[in-house]
Amino acid sequence: MTAPKIIRTLAELRTEIARWKAAGETIGVVPTMGALHQGHLSLVRAAKEGCDRVIVTIFINPKQFNNPEDYENYPRTEEDDARKLTPLAVDVVYVPDGTQIYPDGFATTVSVDGITDGLCGAHRPGHFDGVATVVTKLFTQSQADRAYFGEKDYQQLQVVTRLARDLDLGVEVIGCPTIREEDGLAMSSRNLHLSDRARTWAPELNRAMEEMAEGLRGGGDMATLRAEAIARIERAGFTEVEYLDLRAADTLELMGSLDRPARLLAAAWLAGVRLIDNIAVN
Ligand code: PAJ
Repeated sequence: MTAPKIIRTLAELRTEIARWKAAGETIGVVPTMGALHQGHLSLVRAAKEGCDRVIVTIFINPKQFNNPEDYENYPRTEEDDARKLTPLAVDVVYVPDGTQIYPDGFATTVSVDGITDGLCGAHRPGHFDGVATVVTKLFTQSQADRAYFGEKDYQQLQVVTRLARDLDLGVEVIGCPTIREEDGLAMSSRNLHLSDRARTWAPELNRAMEEMAEGLRGGGDMATLRAEAIARIERAGFTEVEYLDLRAADTLELMGSLDRPARLLAAAWLAGVRLIDNIAVN
């Protein structure tokens, strides 16, 4: 097993891509901010299955953090990440510095309307503009045929799907299922910030959501089930439920009852850590 090739400049990336394109090979890209866990690695495996060449990008994008402290504290674990990617035999790990993505005088923002209004969009101003802008850059820089994103960040997946279509970027966005710990907690780099005690309470978010989904499928009343779920999450030690919404699976429109394929989405704070999760309710 050889360590993946690490590329830090766009010029070098382009040289590599030109060779692949000349040979008629397809390219998959997996955008990440590093601190890789099994959730990320599942996307890499999907890309390996679907494409001839795979680029994993690691870039901690300053434009998508609303809080400078959150950006400063984001884990930076490049060596570990490269080690985790070695057995997966990716072709390139692209680790650009800020100037490769946002050159001097950079003045363009990609902003997606509608689906960014509620949920995380409402609670993290500017976040999805930052995501949409960096993802557009990573798509054009990687010239990928397919891009792999986790359903874990369901609203982000919808935003990225929309922008790729709207801007004719020629990349097919593929959503991959959320990878969970054995107790149901969705894997996330933020889980590392939970104390041992808080970690034992964290799976209650998913359990309460599953219970609410079960109730909805059984024809239960939305408002009652929602109130019960919020009470259960708060009893578990969460300090605030930012949102717990039933939304249309494609447009993310708020739904009052279960009349089409839906997604139940939540964000909640536990011991100073913001956790998000979502599940399908069909
Ligand atoms: P990051 O949080 O590093 O996540 C990178 C990708 O991994 C995203 O598509 C995310 O949805 C996926 N992912 C995270 N946890 C997962 C899990 N438990 N199961 C399955 N997939 C999971 O999301 C970002 O970075 C950034 O916003 C980015 C898209 C890279 C733009 O900067």
